[in-house]
Amino acid sequence: MVGIGLDAKETLNGTAIEVRQLHRWFRGNHVLRGLDLKIREGTATAIVGSSGAGKSVLLKHMIGLTKPDSGSIFVFGEELTGKTGMALEAIQRRFAMVFQGSALLNSLTVGQNVGLGLTEERRLSRKQVDDIVREKLALVGLEGKESQLPGELSGGMKKRVGIARALAMDPDIILFDEPTTGLDPVMAERIDTLMADLKNKLRKTTVIVTHDMDSAFKTSDHIAMIYEGKIIEQGSPEEFWRSTNPTIEQFISRFKRHGTEEGL
Ligand SMILES: Nc1ncnc2c1ncn2[C@@H]1O[C@H](COP(=O)(O)OP(=O)(O)O)[C@@H](O)[C@H]1O
Ligand SMILES: [Mg+2]
Repeated sequence: MVGIGLDAKETLNGTAIEVRQLHRWFRGNHVLRGLDLKIREGTATAIVGSSGAGKSVLLKHMIGLTKPDSGSIFVFGEELTGKTGMALEAIQRRFAMVFQGSALLNSLTVGQNVGLGLTEERRLSRKQVDDIVREKLALVGLEGKESQLPGELSGGMKKRVGIARALAMDPDIILFDEPTTGLDPVMAERIDTLMADLKNKLRKTTVIVTHDMDSAFKTSDHIAMIYEGKIIEQGSPEEFWRSTNPTIEQFISRFKRHGTEEGL
């Protein structure tokens, strides 16, 4: 189990997450309006859309952190909606989330932060935890940084620690909420490169929520756009680039002016 995901799954086309007719209101605000989406196993899917479109709300529904008003969610074929307690926790253990602000504990070292979830599970020896921490830090390019404190790290490095912590749990699905938001362009580029690299190496099911088209094009196999509470378009990065849907065209026009198709 230490060799996370390196034994890439055979069934790359199964459905990891299925969202069916999801509706969610916040008082008078109808945020999700009958949203349907399938996330395929072993692929990296970017969910894009403007700020406030409902991307984070959708992610929270996918891992059962909040309940829909109607509609359902299936994780590897098992219905998540309506589950509580241990049954819900069992499904939630299949996910790891990389939070926007990294959410590291400042009083713990980098190594302790990465190993935290493993230590809490109490199934592993000290040495096993240390080995996993070392391996995951190496994967994100932070070899030997175990004893540093989060306060000593740059924003991009903290993000890497957050990614290592998610990988340490050996989840079936990793969710990223705005992985490049708040980083300067150089750091953002490095995180995109790392995510693309991990995608190719690990072949994990990944969901990346972002308003950054540049990041979506670089890090995903599939892009879905959320607009007015629904997925209005989805496809490969190439299909997205060529879309003639005016809403998509407008959303990616700023990126098109600066980027080139070669960047796909
Ligand atoms: N807990 C909440 N209470 C009330 N409104 C919320 C809550 N969470 C999200 N919203 C609203 O839902 C909409 C979508 O939010 P969000 O999913 O965070 O957008 P984004 O696409 O930027 O991630 C916004 O209008 C936001 O104000
Ligand atoms: Mg958000």
